[in-house]
Amino acid sequence: MKKQKSVKASFTTMTELVLPNDTNTLNNLMGGRMMHWLDIVSAISAQKHSNRMVVTASVDNVSFKNSIKLGSVVTLEAQVTRAFNSSIEVHVNVYAEDIPSGTKVKSNEAFLTFVAVDQSGNPIDVPDAIPETEEDMRLYEGALRRRQLRLVLAGRMKPEEAVELKSIFNLQQG
Ligand SMILES: CC(C)(COP(=O)(O)OP(=O)(O)OC[C@H]1O[C@@H](n2cnc3c(N)ncnc32)[C@H](O)[C@@H]1OP(=O)(O)O)[C@@H](O)C(=O)NCCC(=O)NCCS
Repeated sequence: MKKQKSVKASFTTMTELVLPNDTNTLNNLMGGRMMHWLDIVSAISAQKHSNRMVVTASVDNVSFKNSIKLGSVVTLEAQVTRAFNSSIEVHVNVYAEDIPSGTKVKSNEAFLTFVAVDQSGNPIDVPDAIPETEEDMRLYEGALRRRQLRLVLAGRMKPEEAVELKSIFNLQQG
C-alpha cells in the first residue's frame, strides 16, 4: 500500500517585499516575478509532500486581477491538493499587503503540477495526499477534473478518455 500524508504537511508560506527590481515602469510587480515566486513556493510544497526532487510539469492559467505596487508585502501560501502516481497538484493563494495603509487583498490563485523524479530524472511514485478540512476536500475533488483538462490540453490524454470532465458537461447539459 502507498504511504499516505496529510496535505497539511505540505503547507508552505513565503513572504516577499516588492522592490524596484521586481517592478515594471508603472512601479507595479511584474507578472514574471510573480510566476517565479509561485514556482518556488509550490515546488517546496511538492518536495515536502514527496521528500523527492520535483520538476515543474505545468502551470495552469494564472490571471492578474489587480496590480501589486512597489513596497507591497506579498505572501504566498502553497499546499498540495492531491497526488496521483508521480505527479502532485499544488494550490497557491497570493496576498498583497500594503502595511502603511493596513490593506491586505487576495491578488492571485494558481494551480501548479510537479512530478517527483529520481536521480536520473525518471518519474517516481509519491505518497497519497489526504485532505482534512472541507476546503481541502473541495480542492482534492476538483483536482481530478483539472488533471484531465491539463492532460487533454497538453495532448497527453484523448478528450474521450477525460471521464470526469465529460461528466461535468453532461450535468450542465442535463
Ligand atoms: C514532467 C516530466 C518528468 C514527465 O516525464 P514523462 O517521461 O513524460 O513521464 P510520464 O509520461 O510517465 O508522466 C509522468 C507524470 O507526469 C504527468 N505529466 C506529464 N506532462 C504533464 C503536463 N503537461 N501537465 C501535468 N502533468 C503532466 C503525467 O500525468 C504523469 O503523472 P502521474 O505519474 O501522476 O500519472 C518530463 O516531461 C520533464 O522532465 N519535463 C521537464 C520538466 C522541467 O524541466 N520543468 C522546468 C521547466 S523550465
